[in-house]
Amino acid sequence: MSPDLVADEVEAYAAAHTTPPAEHLRALALQTRATLSSPGMLTGDVEGRFLEFLVFMSRPRLVLEIGTFSGYSALSMAAALDPIADARIVSCELSDEHADVAERHIAAAGMADRIEVRRGPALETIDGLDGPFDLVFIDADKTGYLDYYEAVLPKLSRDGLIVVDNVLWSGRVAGPPSAEDSDSTAALRTFNEHVTADERVVNVMLTVRDGITLARRA
Ligand SMILES: C[S@@+](CC[C@H](N)C(=O)[O-])C[C@H]1O[C@@H](n2cnc3c(N)ncnc32)[C@H](O)[C@@H]1O
Repeated sequence: MSPDLVADEVEAYAAAHTTPPAEHLRALALQTRATLSSPGMLTGDVEGRFLEFLVFMSRPRLVLEIGTFSGYSALSMAAALDPIADARIVSCELSDEHADVAERHIAAAGMADRIEVRRGPALETIDGLDGPFDLVFIDADKTGYLDYYEAVLPKLSRDGLIVVDNVLWSGRVAGPPSAEDSDSTAALRTFNEHVTADERVVNVMLTVRDGITLARRA
């Protein structure tokens, strides 16, 4: 979703002054926009690099992604996975169409041994995983965010990081609640209040792209 939180020319300037994405990511973005509905769901260049930096800095062994779509964020993060630590990503995806596209690009990028796409409802997948998760990227259905957060927090490693996308939802959450609010807007508002009030974590909400929250154990 194009957030319109930052002026387009400023977003474009930031993207132009960020190391360009690798060729396989560029091809993935092009194909996603050409073939899949809701291409705006794609994480994109700057946020992809940001996720890669988070992996580079935190050196996770096990990354959990909730919401694969065509695989852009998973492949972005995989670029910085520590080969020595045998680090890997488990990515949850409900749509077979999206999972098919993602798996094709993951295989083409030679990352099939590092990224596993688990098909089905993410809550069921999380339930079947022991963790500990060193990094969790939440980027699926917005009405599920609170349940995902509560499901992954007990399985987060001591120094683990939770990264949550679209928490500003084009700024809609910052306005006064209204009867016109979509379920996603209302759910994100509730989620943001919940995380902010949660004494189990320390969090920061970044005005990067559509809003990214980082949370770690307190
Ligand atoms: C915003 S997109 C993810 C974008 C992706 N991270 C990227 O970088 O391109 C959200 C994805 O979550 C998937 N999804 C929605 N509800 C889900 C659920 N309950 N369990 C797993 N995946 C779900 C959708 O099919 C969609 O592919």
